[in-house]
Amino acid sequence: MIKKVAILANGGDVAGLNPVIRAIMRTAQTNGIECYGFIDGYKGLLENNFIRLDGNRLADGILPKGGSIIGSSTNTIVFNYKVTNPDGTVEYKDLSDLCVENVKKDEFDCVFTLGGDSTQKSARDLYIKGINTIGVPKTIDNDVACTDITFGYNTAVSVAAEALDRLHTTAETHHRIMCLEVMGRYAGWIALESAIAGGADAALIPEIPYDINKVAESINKRIARGKQFSVVVVSEGAAPKDGEASTFTSDVDSKSGISVKFAGAGDKVSKELQKLTGLESRCTTLGYMQRGGTPTAYDRVLSTKYGAKAMELAMEGKFGVLTVIKDGKLDYVSLEDVVGNNKKLGEVQGGTEDSNVRLVTMDHELVKTARDIGICLGD
Ligand code: F6P
Repeated sequence: MIKKVAILANGGDVAGLNPVIRAIMRTAQTNGIECYGFIDGYKGLLENNFIRLDGNRLADGILPKGGSIIGSSTNTIVFNYKVTNPDGTVEYKDLSDLCVENVKKDEFDCVFTLGGDSTQKSARDLYIKGINTIGVPKTIDNDVACTDITFGYNTAVSVAAEALDRLHTTAETHHRIMCLEVMGRYAGWIALESAIAGGADAALIPEIPYDINKVAESINKRIARGKQFSVVVVSEGAAPKDGEASTFTSDVDSKSGISVKFAGAGDKVSKELQKLTGLESRCTTLGYMQRGGTPTAYDRVLSTKYGAKAMELAMEGKFGVLTVIKDGKLDYVSLEDVVGNNKKLGEVQGGTEDSNVRLVTMDHELVKTARDIGICLGD
């Protein structure tokens, strides 16, 4: 019998966090279970900073709200935590024991971890250390292994598709190439799906190193057919076949595992296409617009299903797992399968031998559809 649970949201915000929190909270309430939220993700777990979620105004009316009412923290890895000593020196410490202590002291029967790959890795490791964790897959990048879809992704694609519709107007009116840089560090799902939804002429994704001459060729063919404009979607992690992805590294600390920041891919493509086609070209970077704001109806429903399922799993005593959608059905898999050492599984999911992250595979129906309708993928 579980009596008390807590939720934490970790990593970048996405639309859908609050609906997941609401669904966990409501299912807990229905079953007479107390529900709490750690403030700012794993940071709250470390600092034992949490609030009661049910029965107060903070948690009212949150279904359509973007962001997270309990905050979220990025790059907080409790197993390798950056600590600045009073003398200014920096050390990396494993503070996971403190997290275990906090959870035990306050008698939380389960901690729900809302996050992507790195959040779920910590959830898996904390589970091994004796905390009952249940993960819920969150990221606009849609790259968590073992699930068909993460919450937040549908909203991001919808925002990108709307941006493409709006960019079309300027492209057509001014006879320009309009490039849209979208998020997706290692996975091109947002770029690919929004390109299809928004009628783009080319989509460059991290999984297909691009040849800029091929992209220019496809635009030149359009010009020859009388189409004096083109719209190109560029994933932030897209890289030329003979080069590297565009990153800025000022904030990166390899020791801490802080993730690389991507920037400039769209601008680079835009400048090169202007040279190669003679059409004027402009780049728009969509950035955090994709993560913020109200979730789509699809994301609200998905997040609610995930949250309710997560609470059900807790009541059934199934811990160390992640809620997933597999072949359209709500289900769960072990966190070990999602982020563990079974790289074979990662490979089936489109990952690599080093990572389980779910990438776009070349036989995926979205790739086939894009090619069928003539979207240039840069190869
Ligand atoms: O992983 C989600 C994501 O939105 C990526 O698409 C993007 O590269 C990254 O987060 C940006 O993170 P931050 O909020 O740290 O700038």
